[in-house]
Amino acid sequence: MSGKDDYYNRSKQQGYRARSAYKLKQLDEEAALLGPGDTVVDLGAAPGGWLQVAAEEVGEGGTVVGVDLQRIDEFDDHDVETLRGDMTEERTRHYLREAVGEGGADVVVSDMAPNMTGEYHLDHARSVHLARQALDTAEELLAPGGDFVVKVFQGEDLDAFRDDVAASFQYVRTVSPPASRDSSSEVYLVAKGYTTSPVAEGDRIEVTIEEEGDEGDGIAYVEGYTLFVDGDVGETLAVEVTDVKPRFGFAEAVDGGESTPSN
Ligand SMILES: C[S@@+](CC[C@H](N)C(=O)[O-])C[C@H]1O[C@@H](n2cnc3c(N)ncnc32)[C@H](O)[C@@H]1O
Repeated sequence: MSGKDDYYNRSKQQGYRARSAYKLKQLDEEAALLGPGDTVVDLGAAPGGWLQVAAEEVGEGGTVVGVDLQRIDEFDDHDVETLRGDMTEERTRHYLREAVGEGGADVVVSDMAPNMTGEYHLDHARSVHLARQALDTAEELLAPGGDFVVKVFQGEDLDAFRDDVAASFQYVRTVSPPASRDSSSEVYLVAKGYTTSPVAEGDRIEVTIEEEGDEGDGIAYVEGYTLFVDGDVGETLAVEVTDVKPRFGFAEAVDGGESTPSN
C-alpha cells in the first residue's frame, strides 16, 4: 500500500470523516492558518473532515461555520454551525455574513470541487469558477489581515486567478499538500493577510505628508489608509507605492514628483 492510501486508514482510525482532513492539517502546518479563538468559514465542507480539524484548532472560544450543497451530519463532539447551500447563490453568502457577524472571519477555506466529467478543460473551468466564488466570499467576510485557502485544478486560467487573489492579500503561495493524491491536478492557493488597502503595489499617486511617524518618517493618509513616506510634514509629492500591508503601506518619492511645501 502506498503512503498516500495510508491517509484513508489514518482518517478512519483517528475519527476524521474524510482523508482530506490531512490536507488542511498540512496546509495549516505550513502556513500557520488556524489559531485558538479564530472564526473560520469552510466552503464545500461536506462530509466535514476540514470542519473537524478547524474546530480542534480554534477550540471552545472559536467559531466554525461550514457550507455545502450536501447535508453535513451534526457533530457530537464539536460546536460547528452548518448550512446546506449553494455558494453560487447570493442568499448563501447573506447567511454567512449573518453567521460571521461584524467582526469578520479570520480564515476562509474552500475545498469546493465540481462534479468531475473527466474532460480536463471543462473540469478546470468549473473549478476556477467555484474558486472565484470563494474569493468573492472571502473578500466579503474576512477581517483585515485574515487568511484564505482555496482549492483549484491546474490549467490555463490558474495564473490569472492567482493574480486576482494576490491583489487582495499580502502574499499568496501555491501549495500541493502531501495528502493530495499523485494523480490529482488540484493545488491549493494559500493567501495570507487580507488587505483592504485602497492602493496597490506599483501605484503612482500624489500624497501630502500629514504627520511624522515614531521613527521620523512621514505619514500620509489615502482614504484613511496609512502610508509611510520619506519626507517632511506639509510636503506634497508624487510617490510610488512599494509595499502594501493590511493596515499600512510604504511609498517612495518618484522622479517628476514636484515637492511642494504646503505653506
Ligand atoms: C472535496 S469535497 C470537500 C471535502 C471536505 N473538505 C472535507 O474535509 O470533508 C468538495 C465539496 O464541495 C461541494 N461543492 C461543490 N460545489 C459547491 C457549491 N456551489 N456550493 C457549495 N458546495 C459545493 C461538494 O458538494 C463537495 O461536498
